[in-house]
Amino acid sequence: MTAILTISGLEKRFGGVLATDHVDLDVVKGECHAIIGPNGAGKSTLIAQLSGTVVPDRGSIRLNGRDITREAAYKRARLGVTRSFQITSLVMPMSVIDNVALAVQAREGHSFKLVRPARSISRIRQEALARLAEVGLAERADAPTVILSHGEHRLMEIAIALASGAELMLLDEPMAGLGPTESARMVELLSRLKSTRTILLVEHDMDAVFALADRISVLVYGRIIATGTPDEIRGNAEVRHAYLGEE
Ligand SMILES: Nc1ncnc2c1ncn2[C@@H]1O[C@H](COP(=O)(O)OP(=O)(O)O)[C@@H](O)[C@H]1O
Ligand SMILES: [Mg+2]
Repeated sequence: MTAILTISGLEKRFGGVLATDHVDLDVVKGECHAIIGPNGAGKSTLIAQLSGTVVPDRGSIRLNGRDITREAAYKRARLGVTRSFQITSLVMPMSVIDNVALAVQAREGHSFKLVRPARSISRIRQEALARLAEVGLAERADAPTVILSHGEHRLMEIAIALASGAELMLLDEPMAGLGPTESARMVELLSRLKSTRTILLVEHDMDAVFALADRISVLVYGRIIATGTPDEIRGNAEVRHAYLGEE
């Protein structure tokens, strides 16, 4: 079991709130590791510290042994740590494939060549199309992004993360706002992706979590109260009391 990500003694305080309270956590290469916990538990704050948008007060984050605690977000992205983009980062008037092509270009370090339409470069277009096929959106490639459904936009975010070269995908509530059919589609996609990528998944949809996660960590008031297999977490009395029982 090789840890791709090692979090040690991580702390983050916002005023009187200890949002991350001495978090120690290993994410193993190739696993889908879910973080669950009530609203305000500190799940998004943890993800933000891993992606580099929030600076921890204390502790360290290592990626494949390399200390990235204070590395800039774009550098972490270069190293393969990508947070699923918010839908607001999709360029709505542009076609689906052009949005993904931009991520391919950005990864290759020449995003400044925007004056040339991305899709005119056939190799980049080909790769973007492959990423769209991977998330099941190939037939939507030429559609304007704006006409896609909410669920399709979320799939696009995953395609963009893949196009950015994601090795460790940080997903903060990818099922949020999805209907049952769209959720099932996302679960099916993530279960395919986890054979080739490592996924850190924050999700409220417990059916999705228990279907996807190899291990689950439970966060309550910034503290990890348990880490284990889905069966271990289901059977954990403290977890049931603190969280699952409330559902
Ligand atoms: N930028 C911020 N400024 C002040 N307080 C924050 C900020 N971000 C999060 N918090 C607080 O930190 C705690 C954890 O929030 P968050 O990480 O969003 O929880 P979750 O994602 O588990 O719902 C909450 O009490 C929240 O109000
Ligand atoms: Mg959150």
